Amino acid sequence: MEKTFGNTRVTLVHGDLTRQDVDAVVNAANSSLLGGGGVDGAIHRAGGPAILEECKAIVARQGSLPPGRAVVTTGGRLPARRVIHTVGPVWHGGARGEAGVLRSAYQESLGLAEAEGLRSVAFPSISTGAYGYPVAEAARVALEAVAERLRAGSPLAEVRFVLHTAADRAVYEEALEKLPA
Ligand code: APR
Repeated sequence: MEKTFGNTRVTLVHGDLTRQDVDAVVNAANSSLLGGGGVDGAIHRAGGPAILEECKAIVARQGSLPPGRAVVTTGGRLPARRVIHTVGPVWHGGARGEAGVLRSAYQESLGLAEAEGLRSVAFPSISTGAYGYPVAEAARVALEAVAERLRAGSPLAEVRFVLHTAADRAVYEEALEKLPA
């Protein structure tokens, strides 16, 4: 399923983020940038050690990455040329600014992709694994944040959401259907 906002297509697929043939994939990282489980572990396993080396250099230069911020590295051995690392919020019930941080994680990542001159970027469902964000709420925040930025005009041709389960894809589809183009 897909919908167009401004000049950019937003597409939803069920699959593995590390196998996407796009200019950049976004990593749902943690502030240490030293890797973890979930999609973070999968990206470092598939992409090889070059990504971790760059992450360490970034942390040495600017310190750990606060939630809602993003940085970019090489894609190592991934099909994608770049990995954009962002940190989503840990879910604490929704009253601790989680939505604002999640929204910032998506919009900062898109800003970096645009600044790098990229044409396509693929996101996982940030924060809905280890960080416990309820997927229906996360899907609404994620898609609204992306749509808002794209409606304002973007050089990106495609923003892809790669959902790891068919159930998550169905949830994102419902949220995308409700969103005005
Ligand atoms: N492709 C696409 N999606 C994936 C993949 C993959 N290969 N592997 C896992 N996912 C999905 C999960 O099913 C979940 O829906 O990514 C979503 C996000 O889950 P997490 O990876 O756990 O990310 P998050 O909830 O943001 O937690 C971040 O987990 O791995 C650590 O270092 C990371 O500490 C950080 C925390």
